[in-house]
Amino acid sequence: MQVTIKTAEEIKKMRTAGRLAGDVLTMIEPHIQAGISTDELDKLCHDYIVNVQKAIPAPLNYHGFPKSICTSVNHQVCHGIPSDKKLKKGDIINVDITVIKNGYHGDTSRMFHVGQTSAQAQRLCNVAYDCMKIGIEMVKPGIRLGDIGHAIQRHAESSYCSVVREYCGHGIGQNFHEDPQVLHYGRPGTGLELRQGMTFTIEPMINLGKRQVKQLGDNWTVITKDRSLSAQWEHTLLVTESGFEIFTLREGDQL
Ligand code: MF3
Ligand code: CO
Ligand code: CO
Repeated sequence: MQVTIKTAEEIKKMRTAGRLAGDVLTMIEPHIQAGISTDELDKLCHDYIVNVQKAIPAPLNYHGFPKSICTSVNHQVCHGIPSDKKLKKGDIINVDITVIKNGYHGDTSRMFHVGQTSAQAQRLCNVAYDCMKIGIEMVKPGIRLGDIGHAIQRHAESSYCSVVREYCGHGIGQNFHEDPQVLHYGRPGTGLELRQGMTFTIEPMINLGKRQVKQLGDNWTVITKDRSLSAQWEHTLLVTESGFEIFTLREGDQL
């Protein structure tokens, strides 16, 4: 697949899709409480996306994924399937939202804390956030993907955390996942050189323990092999003439 350069028209549509994805996270935030099941979170998001936003939840039936959002709790790394299991005090959860509006995708995820969480959980979520932020802030024409991956890896590892290698950020547009692959580790001076008009996600998955992961028998849910906590944040962005624009920032939020 080729890395596409988006036209001004397409960029407008992606801005809309990105804002909608961010709005779903804003909508769901007050519902993240002990006692709610991830199925209930899925239903709230599904109904909001379909009925209020008049958009499409991209995960539903994507390569057979059975739900409209991904919910990954504690040692779950990504692609957690919503279920009747309830959140409990002290859990951390990643909610990953992807919507399609006017044929274009917006993809964003973030961590939420259920009540008071451990100092280690808070530290991990902050390291994962900073990894994403460090990566995003490097984005501009001329920089290479290996520069970004390296900076993310260096921050994670110097914070005594590890970077998951099996999953990465991705080009996005009319397709949910397109080229390029955006690795969250790497070597400076290597990889694709960014150009104005490229759109992709940065979404580092950071573990408190070792980097190795495994997939559960449901063929989706990814967990840490050592059962250590994992955290992830994700934004969809555009390479602009002088830097970047984040499509999925929530209203009033800054990076
Ligand atoms: N939203 C995820 C990502 O950031 C992909 C989820 S694929 C699904 O790329 F099928 F599990 F929804
Ligand atoms: Co993504
Ligand atoms: Co996502």
